[in-house]
Amino acid sequence: MRTPLMAGNWKMYKTVSETRAFFEAFSPLVAKSTHCEIAICPPAVNLAAAVDAVRGTRIAIGAQNLFWEKLGAYTGEISGAMLKAAGCTWVIIGHSERRQYFGETDETVLKRTRAALEAGLQPIVCVGERIEQREAGQTETVLREQFANGIAPLTPDAFERIVIAYEPVWAIGTGKVATPEMAADAHRLLRQQARSTFGTEAALRLRILYGGSVKPDNIRGLMAQTEIDGALVGGASLDPVGFASIVNF
Ligand code: 13P
Repeated sequence: MRTPLMAGNWKMYKTVSETRAFFEAFSPLVAKSTHCEIAICPPAVNLAAAVDAVRGTRIAIGAQNLFWEKLGAYTGEISGAMLKAAGCTWVIIGHSERRQYFGETDETVLKRTRAALEAGLQPIVCVGERIEQREAGQTETVLREQFANGIAPLTPDAFERIVIAYEPVWAIGTGKVATPEMAADAHRLLRQQARSTFGTEAALRLRILYGGSVKPDNIRGLMAQTEIDGALVGGASLDPVGFASIVNF
């Protein structure tokens, strides 16, 4: 019922020529992968090359962030309209690395999500607990709070157009993947939050991706959970063969 989304977050990796080389290898490997949607989110300077490279394929391109203002004197920032004009379909919002290093909060996540939707982009909104929060038994509280402040204030129409990515911070780039059951528990909790705010139908339609050390050898177990609607993949999305095998789990 929910079409899986397999998204690659390249973070601060790859140049323009490396971007072209990736798609040359990757595109043929997923040409028949109609079971899911596919998105790659390269660094902003590579968006044009990426959009060009995927023309005529089923691969969509996304950005890793956007600013909420439409235009103005905001040195270094990029607006939703600019991303849309560059050919982006998706945009990642509130990634834990942005929360950790660049002062992102639930409030700014909400502003960016609204701006993305207004520009016609589909947001992938990230939530997830840090290791000390999980160890202190606060996972539920953290996810509830992130949902309540960053997502629940959206209008029902806006909510229909977002995807949530559950990325436990302790699993990102560490090789420590959450067990499929742990991920499914968190997804169930988020879906409950969605149900109580936006109703059963909207909650059932919501896609929730898992992110954190997803690799070709653990994707099957994760995708076997009916609660998991796809993956947001960092390191393993940099290799065309590896990411293709994740897409084709
Ligand atoms: P890794 O797959 O490298 O753990 O990164 C996950 C992530 O942060 C995706 O957004």
